[in-house]
Amino acid sequence: MAYPQTRLRRLRASDGIRRLVRQTELSVNDLVYPLFVKAGKALSSPIPSMADCMHLSPDLVGQEAKRVCELGIPAVLLFGLASKKDPAGSQAWDPDGPVQQAIRSIKAVTPDLVVITDVCLCGYTDHGHCGLIKDGKVDNDSTCQVLAKVALSHAQAGADIVAPSDMMDGGVSAIRQALDRNGFQDVAIMSYAAKFASAFYGPFRDAADSAPAFGDRKTYQMDPASADQAMVEIALDIQEGADIVMIKPALPYLDIIYRARQRFDCPIAAYNVSGEYMMIHSAAKAGLLELEPAMLEVCTAIKRAGADIIITYFAKSIASIIRKT
Ligand code: PBG
Repeated sequence: MAYPQTRLRRLRASDGIRRLVRQTELSVNDLVYPLFVKAGKALSSPIPSMADCMHLSPDLVGQEAKRVCELGIPAVLLFGLASKKDPAGSQAWDPDGPVQQAIRSIKAVTPDLVVITDVCLCGYTDHGHCGLIKDGKVDNDSTCQVLAKVALSHAQAGADIVAPSDMMDGGVSAIRQALDRNGFQDVAIMSYAAKFASAFYGPFRDAADSAPAFGDRKTYQMDPASADQAMVEIALDIQEGADIVMIKPALPYLDIIYRARQRFDCPIAAYNVSGEYMMIHSAAKAGLLELEPAMLEVCTAIKRAGADIIITYFAKSIASIIRKT
């Protein structure tokens, strides 16, 4: 039936009616809050490239985890900043590295908060690439073995979920095998399955001091113009043992999230990355838009596209808004 019998505005007439018919509801249960851990003691300093985000030393991360937990957010995602870098990124699997210490300090304060760790080498290598360099190129197979060591060291420190973000082929199965062989069959893997070589990682690379010293990441991260290959990447990671698959960035890749939702039955995470975050923050700071409705709209869109889990620097703000309403 068409107009005048059908009037779609009837269902928009009041807040109550709009709430009744609303299909997508953001929940604090959807959120993961990223944290940046820096070696040292009693260190808490604002990150210049990322509004409202802090570098925290492992001893202070526990307190922050407590605040996150009190807001009802179920999980944090940890990134480490190396205090010393070398070609192999060896601090990444040091049992006393910043992330490993942070996991222990969070678990001591809030044992129920889910601790997810980023498994990658770019913050730890002196060349800034996500893997080992051989003949001027990022070497796939030797990198997988190192990533397995990194993931294992996180599991040994108490991580619940490891999240490989390097985009090596076969990385997930190398990690699954290393975890299983060492008695960590219950530690889950959230793979950055479809991670694109994006311009939106800029603020993060400043925050994590992880920009590549030469070249770019286009030989391992996906070409932003290709969608079908993202489905292959996701299918392979599931086959290799990923429990949760991630699409990253989120906003410019809502079509990928949607397609993955139609095709795969496992939980899908989407990473609302640093550039997406700062784009909104900067526009709000310039008086061009309102911060709160903009962040809610973006995260609702990511969920509407099909994401079950949203990793976002807005997580604490969104959780406080949801609590108030
Ligand atoms: C590490 C990694 C990156 C991000 C998450 N893990 C940077 C990159 O791949 O260069 C980006 C996150 C963000 O921009 O918020 N490989």
